[in-house]
Parts: sequence; C-alpha cells; structure tokens
Amino acid sequence: MKSLKKNDIIDNSKLDQTDKARNIRLKIMELVQEYVEEVHGTKEFIPGKTLIPVSGKVFDYNEVQHLVSAGLDFWLTTGRFNHDFEQKLSKFLNIPFVLTTNSGSSANLIALSSLTSEKLGDRSIKNGDEVITVATCFPTTVNPILQNNLTPIFVDIDHSTFSVDVDLIEQSITEKTKAIMIAHLLGNPYDAYSISRIAKKNNLWLVEDCCDALGTTLRGKHVGTFGDIGTLSFYPAHQITMGEGGAVFTNNPELNRIMESFRDWGRDCFCAPGKNNTCGKRFNWNLGELPEGYDHKYTYSETGYNLKISDMQAAVGVAQIEKLQYFTQKRQEHFNFLKNRLKTVSDFIMLPESIPHAEPSWFGFPLIVKPSAPFTKNDLVNFLSSKLVDTRPLFAGNITKQPYFKNKKFRIFKTLDNTDYVMNNAFWIGTFPGLTLEILDYVVTQIEEFCIHKKETLGNAHESI
Ligand SMILES: Cc1ncc(COP(=O)(O)O)c(C=O)c1O
Repeated sequence: MKSLKKNDIIDNSKLDQTDKARNIRLKIMELVQEYVEEVHGTKEFIPGKTLIPVSGKVFDYNEVQHLVSAGLDFWLTTGRFNHDFEQKLSKFLNIPFVLTTNSGSSANLIALSSLTSEKLGDRSIKNGDEVITVATCFPTTVNPILQNNLTPIFVDIDHSTFSVDVDLIEQSITEKTKAIMIAHLLGNPYDAYSISRIAKKNNLWLVEDCCDALGTTLRGKHVGTFGDIGTLSFYPAHQITMGEGGAVFTNNPELNRIMESFRDWGRDCFCAPGKNNTCGKRFNWNLGELPEGYDHKYTYSETGYNLKISDMQAAVGVAQIEKLQYFTQKRQEHFNFLKNRLKTVSDFIMLPESIPHAEPSWFGFPLIVKPSAPFTKNDLVNFLSSKLVDTRPLFAGNITKQPYFKNKKFRIFKTLDNTDYVMNNAFWIGTFPGLTLEILDYVVTQIEEFCIHKKETLGNAHESI
C-alpha cells in the first residue's frame, strides 16, 4: 500500500507556524503512527471464528495523521484539505469541477435539485416532470426525485449485469421526461455511453450515481463523466472513505455553480469559507427585490441546504485517494478470484457479468441463485451467516415494494420482472481490499460445500423416489 512520507502533511501544510509548533506537530505525528500501528494493525483471520464483512475501511497511520493534522489546524469547516481533495479527485476523474458533500445521498439530492434551478431556463425540471430510473437501487438515488415533486419512472434491468436495459430507457421517454438518474450498481457500469447519446438526442439530463463505482471505467473513461453530473459516496463501505462524505462532479461550469449554491445554503455568493468579496462587487449587486447593494454573502438564489463537509473528513479523504489505485486493483483481483473459483457451482449459481468495454471497480460480488438450484437464496444466505460470512441483498431490492413507497406517485414502464427476480434470488459478498485471498478461499469453500451437500441430498431424494 502506498504510504506517505511522515513529513508530507507538515510540508504540504504551508502553515504559518513557529519552529516550536512545527516540532510539536512532528512529535504528535510520530506518536500517532506508533499508536495506529499498535492499535489498528492487521488482525489474524481465524476461519469460522472471524466475521467476514462485506465492506470496511482500509487505512493506516497516514489517514489518522491527516485527521489529527486537520484537528490541530482547527479550521473545522472546508479548508486546505478540502481544496486538496477536490483537486486530487478532479485529476483522478479527469473532470474540471468537483464539489465535496457530506454524503452520497446529499450528492444525489444536490445533483437532481440543481436541475430544477430556474437559471436553466426551459431546461429546468418542473413539478410533475418524469425521471427515468431503476427499482434495483439504493433508496437515495430515487428519493431526490420524490423530494423534488417529480415522478420516478421505473424500467427493468438485465439480470446478469444488473444494468438498466438501454432499449427500455428509449421506449419509456414521454413528453414529460426530463432526466435519467441511475446508479452504477455494485460498481458494475451500465452503458452510460449509449444512454448519454439517448439523453442528448432527447434533450434529457443524465445523472450518474457512482457512489458504488469510484474507479470504474467504461471505454477508458470514468463513469460519471458520460452524463451531466456524477455523484460519489465516501461512506466506509465505498472505494475510499472519509467516514461520512460524498461529491458531485461535472464538466459544466453552470451546473457546478448551481450545485455549489444548493450545497452552500442556496447562496448566490461563491466565496470559500472565511473569504470575502471574491466577486469584487460584494456590495454592488442588485438581485431579486432586495435593496440595491444588499450584501452578496446573504443573497440567496436557490432553495439550498448546508451539505458541506468538515476539513477533518477531507483530510482523511486526501490520504485515502493516494491509495485509490491500489484499492481498485485489489477489488478487481478479489472479484477475479471469486469468479474463477466459483465456476465450480455455476450449475446452481449465476455469476456476474459486465457489459463490453467495462472495467469495474467491484463494490461487491453478486451471486444469483438459479431457479434450478435445490435451495433458495435464503437457505444459502443463512448458511453463510452461520459460517460468519456476511452478505447483503441488492440494496432496496425492488424499491416500489418498500414500505415507504406505499403512497408514492410513480410509474412502472412495462414490467419489473427481472428486478423482482434479482430481489428474490440475488445477494452479494465482499470484495473490499481489507479481505485477503485466504479469506476469500474460505468463503468459496463454504459455498462449494453447501452446494455439494445440497446436490447430494437432492441425488439421494431422487434415488428414493
Ligand atoms: C448507489 C448508492 N447511492 C447512494 C448511496 C448513499 O451514499 P451515502 O451513504 O454516503 O449517503 C449509496 C450508499 O451506499 C449507494 O450505494
């Protein structure tokens, strides 16, 4: 794993501090390293005794040094670490505009809300307009649609890739359709290239939720850069973490400005925290029906929120993003290991596929129990749970069947047969870099033993008939 040099955090700080302060900082950093190595070192894996999670944060002393460094700065709100993180992420994604947010859910809320801005003229999304999405999803990809009084239109997915069916998107477009907002579920990309072409042809916005998919590419480009806006989550389950956190990113300077406003209370002013008069005419604006020259810092042009992060979160992100390439490789390596080894059970379990030209950074490894299997998904999940192998369903399954959806206004385009199939038969196990091939070997062995046992039981049952 890439480690930063001990002094980097101090040298990069460009802080105006005395030699004494610099030396104290250095001593603290040394102690932090010692502490983290003592307390958070690698834990021994004991088969059958150690819980195998589906996800988790992977860090070393660098992250904690960054966190403590931000603590010592005591700037608290977005500051130098946030600036550094946004720049690094922008470089990684090869996209000019990145804004951090306090979660992936907030990123999704900002992304879709920004498209309702009146600044967008006749392209702005209005009450009652339709947004095409899928029901195999995490709730907060869909919730911004509901929160903005728009109608989600659910189209079905392909059950081997879990990707949205591109033809169905095209067929489901109506006069009211204004946007497409879909997640690259489990890091496995849908065909954002073709969907962005459909969106352009029909004058629709495309928001790519990449909360599970940082590092995933399609045709050599990062997902999230095909459409108008991409979103990310830095919750510990994801490719990199800052505890809570997220980001929105775009190529479009106008959308960037609007999203920043939605994130920062809806204000018209775009000064960074602690700065004044970036526009050079703070007391010379004449906006809305406010008196002429009303302080631009307190002028609001959007129905905004405060969804910014703290510089402590950003500091952890700076250390994590240095490891992103390594994390992506590990996820791919773990996925390939599982896919290769689990071929032994492919009579009973469908293994995941990707669309052509995809290079996923796998968030997890999905398995679908085939209808011909002599067991159900629940049988296998319960068995794995008894062996301390943790699993997850594909998030909300079919979101239209969740309790909170009962009185919501939505429309299903044709059917959600594959969505239901996935809800009933699919689950996923971990691929995150904190796992090892030894652990994954144990997981595969458990699945194999379960399938062999069921097959033998079935064989015996047939013989006795
Ligand atoms: C696809 C997807 N979108 C959005 C989110 C929400 O991210 P957060 O937990 O940071 O709010 C998640 C969370 O895991 C997710 O998987």
